[in-house]
Amino acid sequence: MNPKTQSERTRALCELAPVIPVIVINDAADAGKLGEALVSGGLPVLEVTLRTDAALDAIKAMSKIPGGHVGAGTVLTREQVYRAKEAGASFAVAPGATETLIRACEDASLPLLPGAVTASEVMQAMEFGYDMLKFFPAETSGGAAALKALAGPLQGVSFCPTGGVTPDNASSYLSLPNVVCVGSSWVASGDAIASGDWAGIESRARSASHLRG
Ligand code: 3PG
Repeated sequence: MNPKTQSERTRALCELAPVIPVIVINDAADAGKLGEALVSGGLPVLEVTLRTDAALDAIKAMSKIPGGHVGAGTVLTREQVYRAKEAGASFAVAPGATETLIRACEDASLPLLPGAVTASEVMQAMEFGYDMLKFFPAETSGGAAALKALAGPLQGVSFCPTGGVTPDNASSYLSLPNVVCVGSSWVASGDAIASGDWAGIESRARSASHLRG
């Protein structure tokens, strides 16, 4: 798999909606209803973080939702890439980027959204053919102002800022020409999932799906 093609595939997913819900799920039995609420609300691209025992089973369940694209988040190792792919993930998200991880995703033909914050990290990702990157952790790394400053010298690179993105600051990111979408947990918070508030999650997804810069 050519890494450039991988990055193009990631970009196409990122372009589907302004917000990618970042999900931490503790009970895979919730995955179907959660995924359906988010997709029905207009957010078809979902990131399930591999931080809980339930994550892979949740990905398995969500990968069957019509119109949805479920990815695995917090992917750190080659083994996780293969487990995510096997579970039905259609992309992977990482907080950073290593050559091992990039090669593993290429080998598995799993589009990767690699993390980068500094100019050097962005340039390294570009050397591997990646021009659609996760900017993480967004708010503590300078937020929208930092992304705006990176746009000048690093043209042709786009970002999905994640980490501290809220309904209040999402538009300041989405208004930037080098931001394609944002990632955030606000749409499907741990509390909302734990209480089975599918209607509230769908309603927040609907509002998020209309966000523009
Ligand atoms: C995460 O690491 O969980 C994501 O970056 C989401 O961050 P958030 O909870 O600040 O939206």
